[in-house]
Amino acid sequence: MLKNMKILITAGPTREHLDPVRFLSNRSTGKMGFAIAQAAAERGHTVTLVAGPVSLPTPEHVLRVDVVSALDMLAAVQRLLPYQDALVMSAAVADWRPTEASATKLKKAEMRPVIELEPNPDILKTIRSQKGQRVFVGFAAETGDPIAEAVRKLETKGLDLIVANDVTQPDAGFAVDTNRVTFIAVAEDPRSLPLQSKIDVGREIVAWVERHLPPPAPPG
Ligand code: CTP
Repeated sequence: MLKNMKILITAGPTREHLDPVRFLSNRSTGKMGFAIAQAAAERGHTVTLVAGPVSLPTPEHVLRVDVVSALDMLAAVQRLLPYQDALVMSAAVADWRPTEASATKLKKAEMRPVIELEPNPDILKTIRSQKGQRVFVGFAAETGDPIAEAVRKLETKGLDLIVANDVTQPDAGFAVDTNRVTFIAVAEDPRSLPLQSKIDVGREIVAWVERHLPPPAPPG
């Protein structure tokens, strides 16, 4: 019988505000992460979805936690991780944030033509020491050689599986309903999946996590 797992999924971009109306962000729409959440809920798993600012409906039977910035997302993941069996980081976390954020809208005359930035924490690296027996999955959305970069990230971020895709292709990556990905896992040969809907890619990811969960502890 399939074990019901508790799975935490992050999705979408983060926004790094300069002031209440201006921010730095990226092209992520959240479609891939929401599709994974839907696929996991369809399998009867307990799903928590930490979502950056996106305009997508919450899949049925999914608990959604909305966040804005990378620091908010890190705090939500740290708070929720202890209750999870698996984590899928599909969010496109902004790597940098403005050093200063104004609580009020900056006037053009007050703004400097250069924005000073400081690095955001890497969420996966920050929580790596709390992984324990949990299954961790990351994404590598690349414009260069997705496989080489994914192998590097699998190791440096301490992941079990990384899902690599080339976001320069029109039918894969940001804002489309299809994706073409390669699964790269520790001690497994890379597996390239055919072009398919994001929901089917989500189902493949959920099935991979199900197969790699540790066996249940013996009774008593
Ligand atoms: N990630 C994260 N925290 C960040 C940035 C990324 O946890 N601050 C996660 C993403 O959710 C993804 C994986 O790390 O699962 C790879 O993200 P990517 O942006 O490709 O990685 P970077 O470390 O930012 O790599 P790059 O050198 O390509 O900028």
